[in-house]
Amino acid sequence: MQLDRTYLVWALSYAVGGMGLGIYMAASHQHEQHVTHAHLLLLGFVASLVYGVIHKLWLQGPGHGIAVAQLVVHQLGVLAMCMGLFLLYGGFASGAVLEPLLGVASIAVLLGAVLMLRMVLTSRRGAWA
Ligand code: HEM
Ligand code: HEM
Repeated sequence: MQLDRTYLVWALSYAVGGMGLGIYMAASHQHEQHVTHAHLLLLGFVASLVYGVIHKLWLQGPGHGIAVAQLVVHQLGVLAMCMGLFLLYGGFASGAVLEPLLGVASIAVLLGAVLMLRMVLTSRRGAWA
């Protein structure tokens, strides 16, 4: 599968999960998970969609290794972050226990953005000229 399409499938899956959680919050009048909901939709759905669009429009044959590494790092980071936030805001585990997971997940998400920046800067398609 092309990486733009892989990103699209991930993005839409986060949309389903995030909107499902939003509907649950609205229906139950329990908004404790709004931070989890926000990051599922913004980091999961929106950021994955943006990365997919970047692949489609601007990246021409980036090194396959770095492109796959970027995808894996971003998706593992978002999944770990959203799981950690869900456990934290659901009161299933303490901040002290979850902080290492959330810290590593945040750095993974940041690394995903850095790798995407590097691929865009080194891609020839749509160069500035
Ligand atoms: C089925 C669709 C959705 C439902 C039912 C829904 C429901 C909710 C609910 C109940 C809250 C908590 C509000 C509060 O406590 O103040 C919330 C917050 C939020 N939602 Fe959604 N939402 C939906 C879709 C989306 C989408 C598509 C996005 C972004 C792409 C989004 C982004 C956010 C953000 C960023 C917050 C946090 C806002 C804040 O804390 O001020 N939501 N949503
Ligand atoms: C490394 C990535 C990120 C980390 C570590 C992070 C961390 C945080 C933290 C600690 C909060 C405050 C939560 C609270 O109120 O207790 C927050 C809130 C928020 N973040 Fe992020 N964030 C990240 C990425 C993003 C991105 C990429 C977006 C948007 C595209 C985003 C949108 C938001 C929004 C809308 C809120 C307010 C949510 C609410 O109050 O419900 N975050 N984030």
